[in-house]
Amino acid sequence: MILVTGATGQLGKLTIDFLLQKGIVANQITALSRNTEKAKELEAKGINVKIGDYDDLASLTAAFSGVEKLLLISSNEMTKSRAMQHINAINAAKECSVKHIVYTGYMRKEENPSSPLWFLVKDHIDTEKYLIESGITYTLFENGYYLDMLMDYVGQNVLDAKTIFVPAKDGKVNFVLRSDIAEGLANVLTTGGHENKSYNIGNEKAVSFSEIAQMITDITGTPIQYVSPEPQLYTKTLIENGVPEMWANVFTAFAVAFADGIMNIDTTDLTKLLSRKPTTVIEYLKNQFNK
Ligand SMILES: NC(=O)c1ccc[n+]([C@@H]2O[C@H](COP(=O)([O-])OP(=O)(O)OC[C@H]3O[C@@H](n4cnc5c(N)ncnc54)[C@H](OP(=O)(O)O)[C@@H]3O)[C@@H](O)[C@H]2O)c1
Repeated sequence: MILVTGATGQLGKLTIDFLLQKGIVANQITALSRNTEKAKELEAKGINVKIGDYDDLASLTAAFSGVEKLLLISSNEMTKSRAMQHINAINAAKECSVKHIVYTGYMRKEENPSSPLWFLVKDHIDTEKYLIESGITYTLFENGYYLDMLMDYVGQNVLDAKTIFVPAKDGKVNFVLRSDIAEGLANVLTTGGHENKSYNIGNEKAVSFSEIAQMITDITGTPIQYVSPEPQLYTKTLIENGVPEMWANVFTAFAVAFADGIMNIDTTDLTKLLSRKPTTVIEYLKNQFNK
């Protein structure tokens, strides 16, 4: 039995679909959900649903009984310790003798407490350390930045604005499509050889925002410039344009960390897991601009 947490979320749903495509029978997959209503779509596919919450250890222990492999998708909480939530899941898995945990973390070039992203990355570091020390077989997916979210930085109106405005300087970022990560996860959950391994999950090459501006220029014929403002000006501009302050701060923290090169990692790990190249930034942008 494979159990997928975060199964009502975007990455979890996609991974379950890939597991089904790979011939895993629906009744051999369990989805963890906090909410019966949200899980109805999964139930309709014949997936077992267990109700559980990362904050409720007993609910996780009840849900993980009989599970062989666990896909632990990191929580999306911003206001509490995600590490404690993940540690609850690891403790429950240990209690239930789960054999293998696949965990989704973050790609990072270095572990620097002064990084503006430390508040996010530290939870992954603490979770991964705890998982490795638990003695349970693990596989770590160190995911790049979701390519699906690139347009949040580029701006949906980029062809009118003719400018990409992000304080990422010349920093390169490894962008990766959620569905490529999901396919990689499904491959790891259904094949051997991934025991106690850590993978950087991304495209073969990281790209900078000036390269992205050039790609959009080439694709659309509209000249796009790239401007890297001061971070404070960027935050202020986001807030003035209706982005809630907390999210404006999160977007800025990512952009400043991009400038520092936190996700400037080239990798062929996902290429190998997929036996093909992941969707590139230019392929994604061509699709966005219908070219
Ligand atoms: N690499 C990147 O660029 C990037 C970007 C954003 C996020 N992430 C991380 O990747 C994860 C997966 O991405 P995604 O796009 O699938 O996110 P998502 O759509 O927001 O899904 C997150 C899932 O986590 C579940 N969850 C949250 N708190 C929980 C709790 N206390 N107990 C049990 N389940 C809980 C949610 O359940 P409900 O459906 O009940 O809310 C949802 O199913 C995110 O949670 C986040 O940690 C990565």
